[in-house]
Amino acid sequence: MGKILELKNIKKSFGSVKAISNGQFNLLEGEVHSVIGENGAGKSTLMKILGGVYAPDEGSIIYNDREYSSLSTKEALELGIGIVHQEFMLINEMTVLENIILGKEPKKSVSRIDFHTAKEEMKTFTEEYGFDVRLNKKVIDIPVGEAQRVEIVKTLYRGAKIMILDEPTAVLTPQESEKLFSVIRKLKESGTSIIFISHKLQEVMEISDRITIMRAGEFIATVNKSETNKGELAKMMLGRDLFHDTNREKTSPGEVCLLAENIFVPGERELSKIRDLSFEIRKGEILGVAGVDGNGQKEFTEALIGLRPVEAGKILFHNQDITNLSVKERRKLKIGYIPEDRNSTGLLRDGSIIDNLIALKINFKDMVKNGIINVANAESFADDAMEKFDIRPRKKRHICRRLSGGNAQKVVIARELSQSPELLIACQPTRGVDIGSIDAIHGLLREARDEGASILMISTDLEEVLALSDRILVLYEGRIAGIVEADKTDEEELGLLMMGGVRS
Ligand SMILES: Nc1ncnc2c1ncn2[C@@H]1O[C@H](COP(=O)(O)OP(=O)(O)O)[C@@H](O)[C@H]1O
Ligand SMILES: [Mg+2]
Repeated sequence: MGKILELKNIKKSFGSVKAISNGQFNLLEGEVHSVIGENGAGKSTLMKILGGVYAPDEGSIIYNDREYSSLSTKEALELGIGIVHQEFMLINEMTVLENIILGKEPKKSVSRIDFHTAKEEMKTFTEEYGFDVRLNKKVIDIPVGEAQRVEIVKTLYRGAKIMILDEPTAVLTPQESEKLFSVIRKLKESGTSIIFISHKLQEVMEISDRITIMRAGEFIATVNKSETNKGELAKMMLGRDLFHDTNREKTSPGEVCLLAENIFVPGERELSKIRDLSFEIRKGEILGVAGVDGNGQKEFTEALIGLRPVEAGKILFHNQDITNLSVKERRKLKIGYIPEDRNSTGLLRDGSIIDNLIALKINFKDMVKNGIINVANAESFADDAMEKFDIRPRKKRHICRRLSGGNAQKVVIARELSQSPELLIACQPTRGVDIGSIDAIHGLLREARDEGASILMISTDLEEVLALSDRILVLYEGRIAGIVEADKTDEEELGLLMMGGVRS
């Protein structure tokens, strides 16, 4: 296999941010080459340099033995470099076919598009590759996995010989990911080179020929898949070992903490979004809630926390009926909440770390007396919390808006866990968080569980659900598709339940 592309000594800054300080990369014909790294490692920036979106400050791009100091998007396209971005660029109101041929339509005359020819061409094309796409459907009516395949076909139709997929599986169920992988294998067979960006080590080990690791803008290494393993990759990615692995000791949950009986919860348009849900969660147990986004997770958690009324059914907390209690009353019972959107509801973004840490402690006698905050106590509390939850930088007065995603989330988690909640409702606790902090946050949640807290964790990330949960409840269209023991299930079974399938 010949080398078709190389990036050498690439540097790229955005103002004072050094996004890439030493970018190295080379691509062979017909290989699947993964690029891995934590959030912010510079993966997307490096790929956008290839796609002509950014010009590097220094370094060179070598394509088929020709050297460029930068590429324009037009040049990249002409060279056959296509990027499938994480945000799709399709037009919802147009059909799949119209989207694919947009700008490259076969014409009958100057102004008339020859749809018949286009469709015949595209049918042959998609069948040849075994792509499962429906040409006549409007984009708005197709699921996300299919939209992604449409993006890929569209890029191929524009003559891509190098296909860059930027975190393509972030939005897919395991089954859809499998379909994507079979598409990638077909592309590879036909001689296309694929650059696959991800931070999920499992899938990188499944699909790659070679893997390039980046960390904080630096090139770390390029390795052959056959000569490495997940542990080694994680270490190179993080610069240290992972603290926790996913092997859990079996815990023995205690009495029932929360019991929901046949609850119905309205959605935005009055329609019941949660229908007839019953479940329990015990002391010292993590109950994971899996499901594709939008299957009632939001309504479900809002009802449990008291932000949304329940239409029918009952919620009992240690046998006390809390169905109609306010958020505040529930908080007093030691029900904690990590909201999905830390930026708008989780944090006072313009407040400092200390402001946020003590936000819930307002009623505590040791910190507030006659409405006046005992500064010394508050400060020592904040110092302890920053230490215990490893919040960086260790500056109490640092404004939360300036924290990285992982550290901002640790502030929210520190605030909630330092209340010693009996029940913690954690929504997407690590969404948008770098892998090092994910690991730390998982450790904190496990520790709280082991100390007796009940945790209800809602997450669309199956790897996370499987790693953390004792039991898993799968939501599908507002109903329970199944409740399974975490150590007796796998991604495949969960994926099926998430699509409304039944267990065989
Ligand atoms: N257009 C931009 N303006 C300013 N900073 C940027 C821009 N794009 C990326 N960055 C910064 O560059 C670094 C690398 O980002 P990125 O390439 O998106 O990382 P990755 O894709 O590995 O998560 C991050 O610190 C990010 O905040
Ligand atoms: Mg990125």
